[in-house]
Amino acid sequence: MEIEAIIERYPKTKKLDTTDIVVRPLQPTDVRAFHEFFSAIPETERMFLKHRVTDIKVIREWCKNIDYGRNLPLLAVAGNKVVGDATLHQYLGGWRRHIGRLSVVVHPEFRGKRLAQLLTTELMRIARDLALEQLEAEFMGDQQAARKLFARLGFDELLVLPGYVKDMQAIPHDYVLMGKVIKTDEEFAGEG
Ligand SMILES: CC(C)(COP(=O)(O)OP(=O)(O)OC[C@H]1O[C@@H](n2cnc3c(N)ncnc32)[C@H](O)[C@@H]1OP(=O)(O)O)[C@@H](O)C(=O)NCCC(=O)NCCS
Repeated sequence: MEIEAIIERYPKTKKLDTTDIVVRPLQPTDVRAFHEFFSAIPETERMFLKHRVTDIKVIREWCKNIDYGRNLPLLAVAGNKVVGDATLHQYLGGWRRHIGRLSVVVHPEFRGKRLAQLLTTELMRIARDLALEQLEAEFMGDQQAARKLFARLGFDELLVLPGYVKDMQAIPHDYVLMGKVIKTDEEFAGEG
């Protein structure tokens, strides 16, 4: 399925407890709300993110150069506030062209309501529709909540490299790669 057809399925409204949440891809007009969302993430956690997300220039760049085929950021929006973001990254060529990478961040006030699970499950369905065969997610060892979430979604720990990566303050951490095969049985059956 083409990415354009997938994007057309949104926005979707979902219930989270009693709150209505709109799930939709990032749009060029989201700069301020997206920046405010990342600014609400505690600094101790921002250390684990790969980009300087409190720098509005970074967010502007993301909102300007939207390429859903490469990076599909799916936002959860409550009112006009961004409360969650899960992204599907595709490599679009080379050795990893069949693999999608997932990442997810939830606003501290909206945690523990299975919002991360909701967004990630949505992206897993999209990844299958895009005919990706495997999904992966990368963590620093200390990201316990995230590792637990992905384990619950059926991801296995593929690799742990002690002290391999450094956070934004240059402190070394274990690198953890988790993965899940998403190719369906019917597709396997059709081969060979
Ligand atoms: C990881 C994160 C996205 C989870 O968001 P969420 O919406 O609260 O997630 P869910 O409610 O779907 O599930 C969270 C699970 O982690 C558990 N959890 C929460 N905090 C935890 C902690 N400090 N240690 C261990 N587990 C924890 C919850 O109990 C829950 O599991 P359970 O339902 O089996 O009890 C959120 O904590 C976050 O944004 N963290 C910072 C960014 C990050 O590390 N992202 C991952 C990068 S890929």
